[in-house]
Amino acid sequence: MYYHFLVVALGTLVNNGLAATTFSPARPPAVPLAGIPIPGTYQVLGHASGRKFNLSHQKDSSADSLARGPQPGEAVGPNGAVTGWTGLIKVDGTSYTWMGQPKIGDDFPTNVEQTSFEYTSQRSTFIMNIVGKVSMNVTFISPIAPKDLKRQSIIGSYLQVTVASTDGASHSVQLYADTTAEWVSIRNTDTAQWSFSNRNGVASHKSWRQTQSEFNDDFADDGSHWGNWYWSTAATSSLTSQSGGHETVRGNFLKDGKLPNTQDSNYRAISDNFPVFAFANDLKNVGKTPITTLYTIVHAQKNAIKFDGANGDISLPSLWTSYFDSDLAMVEFLYKDYSTVDGSIDHVFAVDSLAAGGQDYLTITSLSARQAFGGVQLCGTTSKPYLFLKEISSDGNIQTVDVIFPAIPIFLYSNPVLVKYLLDPLFENQEAGRFPKQWSIHDLGAHYPQAIGHEDGQQEDMPVEECGNMIITTLAYAQRTSDTAYLSQHYQLLKQWAGFLITDALIPDQQFSTDDFQGKLINQTNLALKGIIGIEAMAEISKLTGNNADATNFANVARDYIKRWQEMAVVKDANPPHTNLAYHDSNSHGLLYNLYADKLLGLGFVPNSIYDMQSTFYPTVADEYGVPLDTRNANTKSDWEMWVAAISSPSTKTMFYSKLANWIKNTPTNRAFTDLFNTQTGDFGTGKFAARPVVGGHFAALALIGAPKNAAGVRRGVEFKA
Ligand SMILES: *[C@@H]1O[C@H](CO)[C@@H](O)[C@H](O)[C@H]1NC(C)=O
Ligand SMILES: *[C@@H]1O[C@H](CO)[C@@H](O)[C@H](O)[C@H]1NC(C)=O
Ligand SMILES: *[C@@H]1O[C@H](CO)[C@@H](O)[C@H](O)[C@H]1NC(C)=O
Repeated sequence: MYYHFLVVALGTLVNNGLAATTFSPARPPAVPLAGIPIPGTYQVLGHASGRKFNLSHQKDSSADSLARGPQPGEAVGPNGAVTGWTGLIKVDGTSYTWMGQPKIGDDFPTNVEQTSFEYTSQRSTFIMNIVGKVSMNVTFISPIAPKDLKRQSIIGSYLQVTVASTDGASHSVQLYADTTAEWVSIRNTDTAQWSFSNRNGVASHKSWRQTQSEFNDDFADDGSHWGNWYWSTAATSSLTSQSGGHETVRGNFLKDGKLPNTQDSNYRAISDNFPVFAFANDLKNVGKTPITTLYTIVHAQKNAIKFDGANGDISLPSLWTSYFDSDLAMVEFLYKDYSTVDGSIDHVFAVDSLAAGGQDYLTITSLSARQAFGGVQLCGTTSKPYLFLKEISSDGNIQTVDVIFPAIPIFLYSNPVLVKYLLDPLFENQEAGRFPKQWSIHDLGAHYPQAIGHEDGQQEDMPVEECGNMIITTLAYAQRTSDTAYLSQHYQLLKQWAGFLITDALIPDQQFSTDDFQGKLINQTNLALKGIIGIEAMAEISKLTGNNADATNFANVARDYIKRWQEMAVVKDANPPHTNLAYHDSNSHGLLYNLYADKLLGLGFVPNSIYDMQSTFYPTVADEYGVPLDTRNANTKSDWEMWVAAISSPSTKTMFYSKLANWIKNTPTNRAFTDLFNTQTGDFGTGKFAARPVVGGHFAALALIGAPKNAAGVRRGVEFKA
């Protein structure tokens, strides 16, 4: 009912009094262009505060502005990868740039004027004006299909460009777009190869790294050194194409408004006269009726993940290979499937977000959806699918338990079975006896896509953190799908972890929590609470699986622990009272985000007084851009803030949402939504986190929609007793 707010422009960037681009619902720090779920190829349009924010002319933007033409030199490091993407247009014989910053000879074609920008959960739209003659709608869509594994398994995005006359006259228009070979490898010295095909009316430029290195076996980084890229469009009679050196190909278009349909077969290093893969369309005389051109960009890998599962190391195929017998069949399907991308996911996410938290909350969730899904990849087969997740930017770990945990709200909300597909590889590896410790593994490997486990036990231990995470996540999945068989299947390991929690959760040793960038700490209040809720969750798991003696035992321990926890955790004589960061440290405090698990699981276990107390307390320690994670510094985590907001009183919830939405509009950061930032300056916190899937946690309020009901039929998860 509030959906129309979505299209109201809320933010305006005034550029020295020049014409301004409007932003709806906000001007974000970076824009998803192609949310391709091989992390490291996630496209962002970076900008720093006060800088230009146009799809064209990215000259001033930072090194991780990925939407630009070829850059000299070797791009190194996970976030420095450049993936050149360029758009030109000719209107009545004059050339303009609408994407990137192509230099042809000494010439930079004039930029089109960008008049507005809008994002929704699936799409980023730029509206351009070309000297009052024609308008362009440049829309990037990365479909999200949580319940449709076939579509969700495809690693591809759409770019749709619509051109129409705006002055009543008709204009001669030719449209051009290319990608560079930079997409195939992060190292510009690598040799690229390419070819061109037309299959059933879909024209594709295919490009790949000549020396393929499956699973990044040659070196580990956040990119991906194997597989094929397909840049495609409709093979209509108006289409011409070319591969070749960037200035030659772009120069041909500027000169002729079309391309010679030739292919360069001099395969060479990516930066050696940067090869580009180009399409030109003669749109002829464009009048008021909009003319649409559709492109797709696809990454196709037959094998996706190396996995140390029940039977030792195996190669897991990409899930799309179960549905399509070739790369090109998949590319053709995606291209022709565009009509099914109807915005209904945008609509559902918007309606639910507005109902749960208003426009500020929608500003947050709609910027997070593609990023969360961009950090995961469907693999395996239709009878045994897996969902693999990459940590991104903090490091390249695969299937990190304490990165899955913050991310689960978006999956629990949009399709809980995806959570099972995330958990399965972790259970499989450990139940096969491939991890020697009594607590849960931290991750399945240091470098995505090698889920080779830690058979020697050498890893970053987070004992209480990961045991609690696994038990809570498993129960949350089973509750929403009534899959108690899953609980029985994994009962032994879950019970082992719960046993560890009985030993270590109430008085946690010196150890890391998920917030390892804050250092180790003994007696962590929030960590202990996770462990204790984990024990109560295990009581519930025992009950659901008919292990009644265990259920009684775990419930008794949990009840005893939560009483003793309150005695050590609550600083009663503070004004207002609050929990501490570590027991006995009454000058400390922190976000008590693990309390959310109690609501997520509908346990009704932690007394309401704790919720009320924290909810009253947070506004008293809020900074400009949010509430600090804890008293060690001014940094916060947006995912944990959203967890806390979801279980706070209406006014505290509103405060959290409005401060984070305000951060989106004003942060000087220029990378894809960092979840770690300074609450006073809005700048990066310790380390430049970016593009991490943990932003799935921004859907915390929505994951409560599916929380179990109590005996009276009331959803315990969403009820807040202020
Ligand atoms: C960006 O777009 C705005 C509005 O169209 C315009 O005023 C500004 O000059 C553009 N900047 C560049 C670098 O093209
Ligand atoms: C631009 O195109 C997209 C994709 O078709 C569409 O959803 C959006 O409404 C269009 N925006 C405008 C302002 O026309
Ligand atoms: C941790 O808490 C326990 C229980 O109150 C206490 O006995 C112990 O001294 C604390 N350790 C530190 C280092 O504060």
